[in-house]
Amino acid sequence: MLKKVNLGVLVSGSGSNLQSVIDNIELGKLDAAIKVIICNNPDAYALKRAKKHGIPSVVIDHTKYRNRELFDLKMIEILKSFSVELVVMAGFMKVLTATFLRAFPMKIMNIHPALLPSFQGLHGQSGAFEYGVKFTGCTVHFADEGVDTGPIIIQAVVPVCDDDTVEILQKRILKEEHRIYPQAIQLYAENKLEISGRKVRIRDHKKFEGLPQHNPPLEKF
Ligand code: GRF
Repeated sequence: MLKKVNLGVLVSGSGSNLQSVIDNIELGKLDAAIKVIICNNPDAYALKRAKKHGIPSVVIDHTKYRNRELFDLKMIEILKSFSVELVVMAGFMKVLTATFLRAFPMKIMNIHPALLPSFQGLHGQSGAFEYGVKFTGCTVHFADEGVDTGPIIIQAVVPVCDDDTVEILQKRILKEEHRIYPQAIQLYAENKLEISGRKVRIRDHKKFEGLPQHNPPLEKF
């Protein structure tokens, strides 16, 4: 039996990724415990999820802080007081300062709704949709000083179909987010992530065995 990793989850909104982590912990698939949930938005639905599952949550309203540094220092204080080892950003809409990154070096994960490094920033899904890509997806990565630039842990690919709307595409991506985030956290818990520069190798893990994918599917070639 693995030692459980103490998580601190940062949220701002609906918290469906938070929910997938909670569900996988409750199912015994994830060797982790959520020690605290920090939310910068007092009205976020994620707070209701925390309450329902009896997980401590703390609202740190960024509008009440003079600058980002002070806001981050408060988050660090709370996370340390709950003995958090790994910070999981799950739809957290604030950019972290260097002070925060230094407090948890390579121990902060983020999920982004696009295949990084494409479509970084706020509009991952609509950016890909408008651009006309045939595949997009989602990415779990370690956070670094950039926005959506840190070393990539796992990605999932989804097709973009001709009759999609951005909402349909968003749902297709979100479904995969809910699968890859718990997987990335579990790989961390199993001590299988080897970081070397930008590259994250997965120790003793299954090799990729899928076939190349084409969208639209190839016919004669
Ligand atoms: C997700 O699409 C995530 O990739 C992005 O923000 C969204 C949050 O959704 N960073 P939720 O709050 O987890 O439902």
